[in-house]
Amino acid sequence: MVARISPRGALRGTIRVPGDKSISHRYAMLAAVSEVDVTIHNYSTGADCQSTLGVLAALGVPIEQQGTTVRIRGQGLKGFRTPATILDAGNSGTTIRLITGLLAGQNFSCQITGDASLRRRPMDRIVEPLRRMGGQILARDGRYPPLEIHGRPLHAIEYHLPVASAQVKSCVLLAGLLADGLTTVVEPVPTRDHTEIALREFGAEIQRDGQRIVVKGSPRLRPPEQLHVPGDLSSAAFWLVAATIVPNSYLVIEQVGLNPTRAALLDFLQSMGARIRVLHLEQRHGELVGHVEVQSAPVRGGVIEGALTAQLIDEIPVLAVLGAVSQNGLTVRNAAELRVKESDRIATVAENLRAMGAQVEIWEDGFHVPGKQRLRGGTVNSCGDHRIAMAFAVAGLVAEAETEIVGAEAANVSYPGFFDALQALLPR
Ligand code: S3P
Repeated sequence: MVARISPRGALRGTIRVPGDKSISHRYAMLAAVSEVDVTIHNYSTGADCQSTLGVLAALGVPIEQQGTTVRIRGQGLKGFRTPATILDAGNSGTTIRLITGLLAGQNFSCQITGDASLRRRPMDRIVEPLRRMGGQILARDGRYPPLEIHGRPLHAIEYHLPVASAQVKSCVLLAGLLADGLTTVVEPVPTRDHTEIALREFGAEIQRDGQRIVVKGSPRLRPPEQLHVPGDLSSAAFWLVAATIVPNSYLVIEQVGLNPTRAALLDFLQSMGARIRVLHLEQRHGELVGHVEVQSAPVRGGVIEGALTAQLIDEIPVLAVLGAVSQNGLTVRNAAELRVKESDRIATVAENLRAMGAQVEIWEDGFHVPGKQRLRGGTVNSCGDHRIAMAFAVAGLVAEAETEIVGAEAANVSYPGFFDALQALLPR
């Protein structure tokens, strides 16, 4: 699908975004290994979270879905059945990396793969700690999907993450549920902690002490019968940036997840001069949820580096667009992880900004986008990456001429309906 975006004036309105992708994956997987029936409300409509449900169904987990409400019958920690086919994680890194943690400790063998993008993404980062736990996992060329997982009894380890990755941390913690004893993960910098919060909510024994997280094996997971997923702040990020840079815009985004390990985005935008306010804040299942108000404002620019990079990792493509129209531009450092996302996001951000007439300097671990740039419009390509498709839709709103986004359907991975939502917020 090709989407065409022209500058049409201010964005105004009240909007909700799909349920948080990270939390949806975790609630579904933990519900599947719990002892009870769980109903999850506002489950993400994105293709990634459907991949998780597809994998769980193939493992024999009874699932009923009506729109964004998903009912899952828990099978206990070792209740999965041998799948009849190769499991398919689609485009979803979170699906393959987290479920492999649970599969490593089952009593059967299976295989899991994904689409062309996922088959290029590194899995040695989970294979290595799972092997240390006693798991037997074979990866293509020692590194990539498909993975062949031979279930084995697991034992607890202490693992120091070599990369800041919530997916790897979560994989080891989930494997820790099936292991004997206390599994410890030590993070180099804090990453999103939805797994830890969900595990506590489901009744597991889990403790955090600074950068160390310890989980006890063999819990009986008994979550509340009803769970509610907050809106996805990483999806709201497109509206926050769009409303900031399109003059006279005013938006309220309702019921968004504001977990502090994700909400660094709001602080960062505010530090650049963005006019953003949280209107209402409450806690649900250990996660913060609120309404966020944004109105247009000139922004100065900024630097993303060190621990901040891990906290903003998914928002960097749209922040790069913001950087180009800011006063002083945006510098991103310590972000080599961007190269192994759904696309090589350093390359795809740079190619697309250049296609719109902007300048970008890139390095192995980041880039610099000078500020005060005029975006010409033109043809950009999502390269199959949902966040690139949506980031450049936002760029199209402030370009001088039409922007054509090739592969715009990639947005469906996390935000089906994104382009319709955009039309609804623009003047008629
Ligand atoms: C995610 C963690 C991050 C993030 C991804 C979702 C998660 O990946 O980019 O979109 O749900 O744990 P990494 O753990 O690879 O950094």
